[in-house]
Amino acid sequence: MDRAGEDQGPACSPKHSYRRDPVQLQQVVLNLLVNALDACAASTTPRVTISTAVRDEEAEVAVRDNGPGLTADVQQHLFESFFTTKPHGLGLGLPIVQSIIERHHGRVKAENAEDGGAIFRVTMPGTGSAVTESPSTLRLKLEAQTPVANGILQ
Ligand SMILES: Nc1ncnc2c1ncn2[C@@H]1O[C@H](COP(=O)(O)OP(=O)(O)O)[C@@H](O)[C@H]1O
Ligand SMILES: [Mg+2]
Repeated sequence: MDRAGEDQGPACSPKHSYRRDPVQLQQVVLNLLVNALDACAASTTPRVTISTAVRDEEAEVAVRDNGPGLTADVQQHLFESFFTTKPHGLGLGLPIVQSIIERHHGRVKAENAEDGGAIFRVTMPGTGSAVTESPSTLRLKLEAQTPVANGILQ
């Protein structure tokens, strides 16, 4: 039950009646964005793209970068706690993403883009505004929180 007066975010369609937590969902996108920025940090032409789509009563947010992509070994361990290939990484970002998304009855998938780089796709049931904000709205919010993203986010 909601605590009195607390905004728990918009409800999903009746078929998927649970409450989304907008702060947690923002955390999901932020974690994926930071990973994408890390991945293409060494590139002379870094590019990170956020896209949103709605299909079959599911909303998708995809974060794509033009970094080196995911090796088979990395792909196998991506969502394990404390798995990191970064010198100062914690290896907690993706496990947190996965647990938040599972709590929202969704899925997170990682794949390599055909023309290089990685794509992380988060899909969730429902089509409410908390998961279907336009990429430009998402971008503005994220740029405000992640100044390094300025000029790299597309
Ligand atoms: N966009 C990406 N491109 C390439 N590798 C990635 C990407 N996102 C995550 N990874 C790999 O997954 C590992 C785990 O990510 P994460 O759980 O966020 O922890 P951390 O960022 O602290 O390393 C990273 O160290 C990296 O090897
Ligand atoms: Mg991370």
